[in-house]
Amino acid sequence: MSQTTAYTAQVMDHARSPRNVGHLPDADGTGKMGDPSCGDFAIVTIKVRNGQITQCKFLVRGCGAAIATCSMITEMAQGKTLAQAMAITDQDVLAALGGLPPAKEHCSNLAAGALHQAISDYWERHRADLRDWRSMYQRSQAGL
Ligand code: FES
Repeated sequence: MSQTTAYTAQVMDHARSPRNVGHLPDADGTGKMGDPSCGDFAIVTIKVRNGQITQCKFLVRGCGAAIATCSMITEMAQGKTLAQAMAITDQDVLAALGGLPPAKEHCSNLAAGALHQAISDYWERHRADLRDWRSMYQRSQAGL
């Protein structure tokens, strides 16, 4: 099997013209991956409606491969259900980009990890506290 030593056209495209760069100030979920104090770092924010990711944005400090994988994963996640987006793997992102040089494959971890953290954050924020039956009853009575 031959090993890729150069970036594919898809990687170059996403690295030069990254999609969905930014931070959603009213995000429903935020995920962070990496260590901002000493290395590469990514933040993914998501908006969710009816269990579906309607918007996904990223900020990253890293190489071109990290920018490309973050850009690609935001495109892959938008329109997906939370469960579908949670199932997106590093390998899926690599495949969508046509691969990365072996020395750069670890850079894709930032993108998938930050997306999964954002979804986990959403689930954590919206988890019903079943022990709080009184407020749940009051909310249902109030039609909320
Ligand atoms: Fe550090 Fe790619 S993000 S080498």
